Amino acid sequence: MDIAIGADHGGVELKRALVEAMRAAGHVVMDCGTDGTASVDYPDFAAPVVARITAGQAQLGILVCGSGIGMCMAANRHAGIRAAVLHNATEARLTRAHNNANIACFGGRTTGVEVALDALHAFLTTPYDGGRHDRRIAKLDAR
Ligand code: RB5
Repeated sequence: MDIAIGADHGGVELKRALVEAMRAAGHVVMDCGTDGTASVDYPDFAAPVVARITAGQAQLGILVCGSGIGMCMAANRHAGIRAAVLHNATEARLTRAHNNANIACFGGRTTGVEVALDALHAFLTTPYDGGRHDRRIAKLDAR
């Protein structure tokens, strides 16, 4: 799968672990930065990930900031984006199956690496259920 990922300084360390795991699993990973611990603004790193999904260059995206929340807010302002903050594999599975989420957001300061890796795996391997959820997602896009 083609996957875009971005982080701010609060998420850069967790991003490194997620990138490594996705590449080891054979995914094509587009790393949109940031790459260091210098303070940056999370909307600037959500935007290139959103752009790759919107352009069809990536099927899914991953965003990491200190809490995952700012990145999620930034991503969800864009049409066609369904981003969710994930704290565990159950949320990851449900948001793919029910919400057809296309971006997973993680908190580098709130979620441990092993828990995030489990959630990432669930996010990348769970298909969208479709059916009754199509109607609900259409309502998200209609507003
Ligand atoms: C940066 O200090 C922090 O505010 C950011 O990483 C994120 O947690 C915002 O939601």
